[in-house]
Formats: sequence, structure tokens, C-alpha cells
Amino acid sequence: MSQSRFVLFFLKNWFLERLASFCPVPSWRVVFHRWRGVRIGENAYIGYGVIIDRVYPEMVTIEDFAVVADRCIITAHGCGSIPLQHLYPRQVKPVRIGRGAWLSPACIVIMGVEIGELSVIGTGAVVTRSIPPKSVAVGVPAKVIKTLEGGTLLEPGGPAGGGDGSRNRNPSVEGKEHGGE
Ligand SMILES: CC(C)(COP(=O)(O)OP(=O)(O)OC[C@H]1O[C@@H](n2cnc3c(N)ncnc32)[C@H](O)[C@@H]1OP(=O)(O)O)[C@@H](O)C(=O)NCCC(=O)NCCS
Repeated sequence: MSQSRFVLFFLKNWFLERLASFCPVPSWRVVFHRWRGVRIGENAYIGYGVIIDRVYPEMVTIEDFAVVADRCIITAHGCGSIPLQHLYPRQVKPVRIGRGAWLSPACIVIMGVEIGELSVIGTGAVVTRSIPPKSVAVGVPAKVIKTLEGGTLLEPGGPAGGGDGSRNRNPSVEGKEHGGE
């Protein structure tokens, strides 16, 4: 890319990213991210202050009905500092947020990760490995703690429906409206 094209790309990206970050209309935030190149499906929700790869926005796919809540960071590349680049060269890998998945606020998703459809990522999680569909994952690094099955949350290794049921407070993910932020 020539220098002038790079400057134009940078300015366009910067301007749209700033608009997408604080625009009060959710559907417009989605449109601004799309104009940057992010692949976003229908009825997806993107919160305030979400950072989606500034250099390779086209490497990020957010499928229909997915929710990316406030201040999440999704990055599709990595690059060490100049003295470290022989160990950590620039890498670019696609990221996919599956249909109907829910990223709670302040999650970080790094390059190469796929979040399976209808999965839930807890607040503040750092997702370094792909998460299977219909899973609830939390923590740093994010680990799966529950699976959604037939509209029920199951504890790993627990009986169907999950122990005493105290963990089954979210009995259904079907038809539930996302709360946005
Ligand atoms: C991921 C989430 C949906 C899971 O909810 P849940 O299925 O009801 O799970 P529970 O509250 O029963 O938590 C199960 C375990 O995971 C832990 N946990 C839950 N959320 C966590 C998080 N974000 N980070 C680390 N651990 C978490 C709990 O402490 C609990 O651990 P324990 O078994 O040792 O007690 C919920 O915790 C969450 O993060 N919701 C986001 C809420 C939010 O930020 N809303 C803003 C608007 S989008």
C-alpha cells in the first residue's frame, strides 16, 4: 500500500472508529463498524467503546444476533516490539463471534479465536482459545464452566439440569432479548 493510500485508510478508519465508539444509536454503531470493514450480521449489537481490530477490521466476523457489550476488545493480529519480532512476528488470524453469542462488558478476544454460537463470555474474560457453541466461559484465560443444552444450563460433569438447580437461573436463551450493555 502506498503511503498516501495508507494515510487515507488510517484517517477513514480512525474517523469511523471514533463515531462507532460513542454514537448513541446502536444500529449506527453497527453501520460504522461495517463501513470500517468488520463483517457484521443482522440484528447484532455492538456496545459503546468497543475496539475491533484497528488494522485488520475485515478479519473480524460478528454473526447474526451476537452481542458485543461495552468496552470489549477484539483483536485479529499480534506483533511484538521491534526487538522481539524474531520471536513474535506479525500474525494475522480471523476471529469469529458466532450467531447469538454474548460477550459481556470488557471481554478481550485475541486473534484466531472462534466463539461458538449461543455461547456466553463473562464480564472481563480474556478469551485466548476457541469456545465451543452453547458454552458459558469466564475468567482469565477464559474457561468453560457451563454448557447450555435444551435451554438449560448444565454444570460440567453434573446431573442433567445441574445439581440443586441453583445455577439454573437462566433457563432459556431462546427468544430472550439482549439487554445491550
Ligand atoms: C457469565 C455469566 C452470564 C454467568 O452467569 P451464571 O450462569 O448465572 O453463573 P454464576 O453467577 O452461577 O457463576 C458461576 C461461577 O462462575 C463465576 N463467575 C461468574 N461470572 C464470572 C466472571 N465474569 N468472571 C469470573 N468468574 C465468574 C462465579 O463466581 C461462579 O463461581 P463459583 O462456582 O466458584 O461460585 C455472568 O457471570 C456474567 O458475567 N454476566 C455479565 C453481566 C454483565 O456484565 N452485565 C452487564 C450488561 S451486558
